[in-house]
Amino acid sequence: MSDLSVTIAGVRLPNPVMPASGTYDYSERHDNFFSPAELGAVVNKTIFLNHKPGNKPPRVYEAPCGMLNAIGIPTAGVKDFIENTLPLMRGYGVPVIVSIAGNTSEEFCKLAEIITETGKADMLELNLSCPNLNEGVEWARDKKLLYDIVKLISESTTLPVIAKLSPMVTDIAEMGLIAEEAGASALAVFNTYRGMVIDINTMKPVLGNIAGGLSGPAIHPLAVYSVYSTYKRVSIPIIGMGGIASWKDAVEFILAGATAVAVGMYNFVNPMIMIEVIEGMSRYLHEKGISNIRDIVGKAHR
Ligand SMILES: Cc1cc2nc3c(=O)[nH]c(=O)nc-3n(C[C@H](O)[C@H](O)[C@H](O)COP(=O)(O)O)c2cc1C
Repeated sequence: MSDLSVTIAGVRLPNPVMPASGTYDYSERHDNFFSPAELGAVVNKTIFLNHKPGNKPPRVYEAPCGMLNAIGIPTAGVKDFIENTLPLMRGYGVPVIVSIAGNTSEEFCKLAEIITETGKADMLELNLSCPNLNEGVEWARDKKLLYDIVKLISESTTLPVIAKLSPMVTDIAEMGLIAEEAGASALAVFNTYRGMVIDINTMKPVLGNIAGGLSGPAIHPLAVYSVYSTYKRVSIPIIGMGGIASWKDAVEFILAGATAVAVGMYNFVNPMIMIEVIEGMSRYLHEKGISNIRDIVGKAHR
């Protein structure tokens, strides 16, 4: 058996596969398919400090080779998360990555501090890049905003910080470098692309929010290139995501330079996808005679 374990910011993951934030629900319903204890890490849907309802419906649309979502991050707030979701996540025995966001830097930092104080998270993932929040700040699209928020949060927590980047920038590798210089311990590359769809009968936008984030196989080659180009510039680990629909897509990310991968939209198509990715990676390494997945991180560069 090849060794699938990887380390991100000193945290050991038994394998490199995790759910992308917002696409996996930690409830008993999922245990019908598999236990999240089999994953490399667990990641929650982004939370905000206080309750907010999310966007008006329709919130999702099936696009060619992907999906547009404009959920708008409905959240019950941090108190509810700590009481109800965090204990479930902790209970699986794998590293816990808590995805957080804030509309202001004060709110963001406060949330980081509260989660840190629980002692139940292994890493914080900063959602700096949600493209379907009308009132939200898109931290990841402005160099100064990105640097300042990552620095501020890195200084207000003892947990390793993962900066989740936006693809909607001129040079994502440069943004990755800025996040690293500001204190990020790892990068998540990347969130969704903003898109929209118009109903030609009603002549109106389909989504209640007008625009939504495009994810799924449609964005996979764009994501692979983003990981590839970011890997060249940074020295912190990258979690690659965008359109993983099979184990082969995940291996591509590792070869491009990702230390770990996250599966998003495809969890809705195939609830077993993450387990199939873990098994497929393991078979691939065995067939290639590679004993350790870490040996192929960034291999496409050499
Ligand atoms: C329905 C849905 C909800 C999402 N919610 C979040 C979220 O709350 N926080 C976040 O950082 N990213 C969120 N994302 C983005 C994913 O985490 C991921 O970055 C993106 O979808 C690319 O991966 P994929 O193509 O495999 O879906 C969401 C994506 C989808 C499809």
